[in-house]
Amino acid sequence: MTARPRIVVTRKLPAACEAEAVKRFDAVLNPTDTPLTPEQLQDALRQADGLLPTVTDKLTAEVLAAEPRRARIIANFGVGFNNIDIAAAKARGFTVTNTPDVLTDDTADIAITLLLMTARRAAEGDRHVRQRQWTGWRPTHMLGARVTGKTLGLIGFGRIARAVARRAHHGFGMRVLYHDPFPPKPEDAAALGAEPRESMEAVLAEADFVSLHCPATPETRHLINATRLRQMQRHGFLINTARGDVVDEAALVAALKDRTIAGAGLDVYEREPVVSPELLTLENVALLPHLGSATLETRVAMGLRALENLTLFFAGQPVRDRVV
Ligand code: 8YV
Repeated sequence: MTARPRIVVTRKLPAACEAEAVKRFDAVLNPTDTPLTPEQLQDALRQADGLLPTVTDKLTAEVLAAEPRRARIIANFGVGFNNIDIAAAKARGFTVTNTPDVLTDDTADIAITLLLMTARRAAEGDRHVRQRQWTGWRPTHMLGARVTGKTLGLIGFGRIARAVARRAHHGFGMRVLYHDPFPPKPEDAAALGAEPRESMEAVLAEADFVSLHCPATPETRHLINATRLRQMQRHGFLINTARGDVVDEAALVAALKDRTIAGAGLDVYEREPVVSPELLTLENVALLPHLGSATLETRVAMGLRALENLTLFFAGQPVRDRVV
């Protein structure tokens, strides 16, 4: 019997995924869930045939340069793969895969959660009650902004954005606008009641709520900066479930403080897990700890999808979700 491929799973996964991993592979698990250091990631590349990392593992060009190297595949746990230096991985001949589709609906749900939380001041209201500041109902207490029937602007119109559009349009009767440099078929957008705009600026200027759905690449870093925040309406809200790098967090803090925009709902941050301290003091921002795909169902599906990519790779078959 030939030896089973050795894989290193960098973080603790749901039990169903770990059981499957040890069944299929000589799997090194991480029961204490302690993040691996760059040196430990390099050791994993030297000692295992494949790596199953997550967003918290920075696979830089330097880490990927580990020699002598045994690993040939990086099966990322996540649809986003900005934790991996893709150019370096490609240059070194790694196969890289991700886990699309399985997290689309749950991430769209978190975008809608944040939209509602920030418009209806839900996080602020929760704090208010817990801090025993609530003195009773009154007609002018904690008035928020209506969501139903408003205009939602989507920056990027991939799978998750479309799932947000479906919820917003069919659930909340919202008008949906989008800008994407790679636009969908017009009929696909029309089914979601979504109208294209030629520029991102047009979306920012027209929308009551702006939700970000572009990948983090060198080109999208600080896509939402001070200038773009000024292009939003003063009563506008910004929702980010994509990646923190897409927003200049310092510029966002300034816009929230100066009320250049009305509020924001954030699931992701520029320097995770560090959150700009000023955000913690502002009432007009709802903050979640990167929960987009955080349901048991989805995290199990993500793990199984990464394992499927590894299984196919080691069987010499085309992987399902090739990034490079
Ligand atoms: C994950 C995500 O929680 O898939 C993504 O891109 O942001 C989240 O679903 C995270 O990336 C896990 O690695």
